Amino acid sequence: MTDAPWAALRDIALEAAKRAGELLITGRPDDLTVAATKSSPIDVVTEMDLAAEDLIRQYIGARRPDDGFLGEEGADVPGSSGVRWVVDPLDGTVNYLYGLPGWAVSIAAEVDGEALVGVVEVPMRKETFYAVRGGGAFRNGEPVRCRTAPPFSQALIATGFGYLTARRDHQAAVVRELLPQVRDIRRSGTGALDLCEVGCGRLDGFYERGLHRWDFAAGALFASEGGALVGGRFGEPASEELTMAAVPGVFEPLQGLLDALGAWHD
Ligand code: IPD
Repeated sequence: MTDAPWAALRDIALEAAKRAGELLITGRPDDLTVAATKSSPIDVVTEMDLAAEDLIRQYIGARRPDDGFLGEEGADVPGSSGVRWVVDPLDGTVNYLYGLPGWAVSIAAEVDGEALVGVVEVPMRKETFYAVRGGGAFRNGEPVRCRTAPPFSQALIATGFGYLTARRDHQAAVVRELLPQVRDIRRSGTGALDLCEVGCGRLDGFYERGLHRWDFAAGALFASEGGALVGGRFGEPASEELTMAAVPGVFEPLQGLLDALGAWHD
């Protein structure tokens, strides 16, 4: 344990993510159903998304009452301390709904708008990914790094799809062009985890249009601390328009191709 200013934030994020993960496992009803929909009928929220966000908000709020909080399920509380928590209590809700194991709790602490600490907890895989800006990336406490770049034609690239039909139509067109040019494509259903897989050397790259800050804040920091390049369109940071992370050597051609294909628009 250290007294560095970020250590307390990291430890709070780790414990909040662990508790939320436990709740999501133990509290999942056998007959889990959709509680609400958001941007479209397939953009679902379950009662467990809401319960997990509540738990995280209360846990952090009790320890850091002056911090801001932005949560996927609606919490948006301004703070006065300069720290803002950016939380996806259940990234991969559709996987969770169907009983697939690839879902995660994602918690980032931002200072002045930039992620300082990121934690992605993957309870069903018993994996905890965390990173602190400038301090490296860790999986279950062990330091990890991204892969060495293969030729672009041998890169394994993950992506994700939004919930709006028009957006999906264009995303499918982009994949149609990309697939013949790389080793293969993966679609896990959990953007936060995809970013961590790049940072720890299990994927060569990931991109998605339309991810929200709560989806990518923690995972993008992890990918970057693992040695990957992270960004959006040329010269721009990761954003809802386009989030990309890839190993150096794959990032550049991937970004060029995505730009040429207009992957940032619908
Ligand atoms: C979703 C996942 C998915 C991505 C979607 C996201 P949610 O988050 O990250 O991989 O493709 O765009 O919305 O809705 O499960 O929290």
